[in-house]
Order: sequence, then C-alpha cells, then structure tokens
Amino acid sequence: MSRLDSMIRRLSAQRACLDALSGLIAHIPGPVLEIGLGNGRTYDHLRERLPGREILVFDRVLAAHPDCEPPPHLFYLGELEETLPRARERIGASAALAHADIGSGRSEQDRAVAALLARLLPALMRPGGLVVSDQELSAPEFRTEPLPDGVPSGRYFLYRCRAQGSF
Ligand SMILES: C[S@@+](CC[C@H](N)C(=O)[O-])C[C@H]1O[C@@H](n2cnc3c(N)ncnc32)[C@H](O)[C@@H]1O
Repeated sequence: MSRLDSMIRRLSAQRACLDALSGLIAHIPGPVLEIGLGNGRTYDHLRERLPGREILVFDRVLAAHPDCEPPPHLFYLGELEETLPRARERIGASAALAHADIGSGRSEQDRAVAALLARLLPALMRPGGLVVSDQELSAPEFRTEPLPDGVPSGRYFLYRCRAQGSF
C-alpha cells in the first residue's frame, strides 16, 4: 500500500471514530482530552462536533494552524508525563472522552508514549468514559469496544474506562 493510501485510510478511520464518539458521549458529562494537538486538525474537528464541551489540549509544542490553537487556559504545553498529572489536579477523574493521536511513525518511541498513556490516562477518566487512540493502550481499566462500522481492526483503538484509576 502506498504511503498516500495508508495516510488516507488512517485519517478516514480517525474521522469515523471521532464522529461516532461525538454522538456516543452526548449523555456522558465531563471535559474532553485532546492528546497530541499537532497541526490542530483533530482538535478543530472535535470542537466543531462538540460545541460547548470543554476540551483540554496537550502537546509538547504549539505548532497548530493559527485558526486551530486552543485557548491558553485549556492548553497544556509540555511532556505528557508532567502535564497529565497537572490536568488531573484540575479535573479529577471526570473526562468523558480522551482522544490520543501521538503517533510519530517511529514504533519504539510510539510504544513508549502508549505505555505512558496507559499508565496515566485512567486516572483522568470518568467510569464509563471513552478513550480513542491511534495506538493500542494496554491498561487494566480499559475495556476494548467495537470500532465504528467501516474502521478496520488495528487501525484505531477504542476503549471504555471501567473503573477509576490512580497514579
Ligand atoms: C500525529 S501528531 C498530532 C496530530 C493532530 N492530532 C492533528 O490532527 O493535527 C502527534 C503530536 O503528539 C505530540 N506528542 C507526542 N508525544 C508527546 C509527549 N510525550 N508529550 C507531549 N506531546 C507529545 C507531538 O509533539 C505531536 O505534535
């Protein structure tokens, strides 16, 4: 498969997941976590699909398109290892949805960030909250959920948080 095809499939899966989840969390209160602002594409999509929902955004750099920069008070600049615990102090275990898009294409690095997320993210999630990720996250608190129609297994990952985690 060409890299163009691969990218189109990844972005299509990402959009299908975000669209489905925006509906699924309609009755789950709490903020949304956007982990990996990057260019701001998925942040822009989420804020369009979830008007009025507070979205906390994380990245080690601010490199988004100027139209897609989050408000400064909702942007956590820095390493996830430091910013996720800081966000936990603010919101507790109340997030309705977390979207993690942290892939760099370097598998060793991505596995390390996935392990970090699996360790830190459960403590911010409301029981019943949803986590959607470009990486597989292996945490005892996360139960795998079926992907939306048309999203092939292994292209994106969807979990429901079953219990409150702690650091
Ligand atoms: C694939 S990009 C995100 C793309 C974005 N969702 C979009 O639609 O434009 C991944 C982002 O994750 C960030 N990132 C990866 N590991 C991180 C870490 N440990 N701490 C903070 N940010 C990290 C990178 O800086 C990068 O901007």
